[in-house]
Amino acid sequence: MGIMLRAATASDIAFIMACERRPDYERFVGRWPEDKHRAVMADKDFRYLVAHEDSAPLGFVILHSTWLRPQNLYLKRIAVHDADKGHGKKVLAAVTDWVFAQTDTERFWLEVVQGNPRARHVYLSLGWVEEGIVRDAFFDDATGARGSFVQMSILKPEWRR
Ligand SMILES: CC(C)(COP(=O)(O)OP(=O)(O)OC[C@H]1O[C@@H](n2cnc3c(N)ncnc32)[C@H](O)[C@@H]1OP(=O)(O)O)[C@@H](O)C(=O)NCCC(=O)NCCS
Repeated sequence: MGIMLRAATASDIAFIMACERRPDYERFVGRWPEDKHRAVMADKDFRYLVAHEDSAPLGFVILHSTWLRPQNLYLKRIAVHDADKGHGKKVLAAVTDWVFAQTDTERFWLEVVQGNPRARHVYLSLGWVEEGIVRDAFFDDATGARGSFVQMSILKPEWRR
């Protein structure tokens, strides 16, 4: 069976928080408390999707759109519960299909921690393109210094191909 996507509800927040808090994820993905997730979920500029295969939830994404940049959709967050089992590639492929087929998005983009080779590999292998470095964009607790993101995107014509 393929991946199914559905809009998350408040009852999914425990699963989402569990994904965010998996071991070794702390450098790569934000960890929001429940009240923050509830508030963001209620914001119409954000959309939460939970990905399932059969009945088991595999992971989630948070998408963000803004009137400041129409038809650009930001992948704010992606995490699977169990890494390195092929779930992330399947989930991201399904989300990308959904984004271009079901919304008016022309450019789907993200920022990935520069030192996150697994995620960068996953994006590249699905046709995403590295656009450049977002320098010193966050404070990295692990190194005690500012860290950079790699900005990446996939355009609708690239997805079609
Ligand atoms: C990033 C994430 C969504 C990817 O999902 P996943 O289920 O782990 O990925 P998959 O198992 O589908 O694929 C992993 C791929 O990366 C490769 N890989 C694993 N570790 C790697 C590493 N250290 N360097 C490079 N590639 C690596 C695997 O070989 C595999 O590639 P292949 O299929 O070409 O062999 C998941 O690891 C995750 O939730 N990580 C924590 C949060 C995070 O980093 N989110 C991204 C924020 S931008």
